[in-house]
Amino acid sequence: MQFPKTNTFDAGLVRSKIMGPNTCKLTEELMDEADLPRGSVVLDLGSGTGISSAMLAREYGLTVYAADLWSDPSDNMRFFESLGLGNRQVVPLKADAAKLPFAHGFFDAVVSVDSYNYFGRDAGYLGACLLPFVKRGGTIHLAIPGMVRDRHDNLPTCLLASWTPEQLDYMHDMDWWRRLLEQTPGVAIERMRELACTREAWADWIECDNEYAQNDRAAVEAGALDYLNTIAITLRKD
Ligand SMILES: C[S@@+](CC[C@H](N)C(=O)[O-])C[C@H]1O[C@@H](n2cnc3c(N)ncnc32)[C@H](O)[C@@H]1O
Repeated sequence: MQFPKTNTFDAGLVRSKIMGPNTCKLTEELMDEADLPRGSVVLDLGSGTGISSAMLAREYGLTVYAADLWSDPSDNMRFFESLGLGNRQVVPLKADAAKLPFAHGFFDAVVSVDSYNYFGRDAGYLGACLLPFVKRGGTIHLAIPGMVRDRHDNLPTCLLASWTPEQLDYMHDMDWWRRLLEQTPGVAIERMRELACTREAWADWIECDNEYAQNDRAAVEAGALDYLNTIAITLRKD
């Protein structure tokens, strides 16, 4: 696949920032059909080290709030500054997705890459904790590591080479996500699909020189990607 926006970032820098399958490629494939007008105000929820936020600000011209629970917003701000991005383009903050500190109706859109499955697996989450902060007519764009087909009662051994059943419970198939999200009133599922870049995004990740990537390598090399996908979801608030 072609990733012109991802390729504007140094490959070594990307490897040092990603926390799972290549965030830049997932973000680029997710956002290229989102068609958000430049200047839209966007929440990058679960932004991690901020590489997706930097891409959204620099390559898509969005005003980005980079909200994450585990990462340090000061580190992320230094990173944004190192790319020439100022505080009118990206606002780094520490925030829990369950208690977002914004005004209702503030965001034109929400983007969440490789994060929503950490905090969004409860049926009440979307309606109570996220949707209120999106404008009417606004959109939510999710890229979620998933399973081609749920098989939690009979997990393939290749998946167990790197992950416990409890960790794999964060991954579900498209039908599972559809059933979950359909329960929320006031929002429509506009589109669900598999991202095409899953295999190469994982290949980039397991090449990284950190203990998490090394842990994940065993499952991928044993064939895990026959069972895993990335689910892209577009939601629109009524
Ligand atoms: C696998 S990392 C992905 C980070 C980033 N989006 C990326 O693709 O590189 C998952 C992220 O979810 C964030 N996260 C988990 N639970 C969260 C919560 N309750 N509120 C906000 N962020 C959360 C973590 O801080 C972590 O950075």
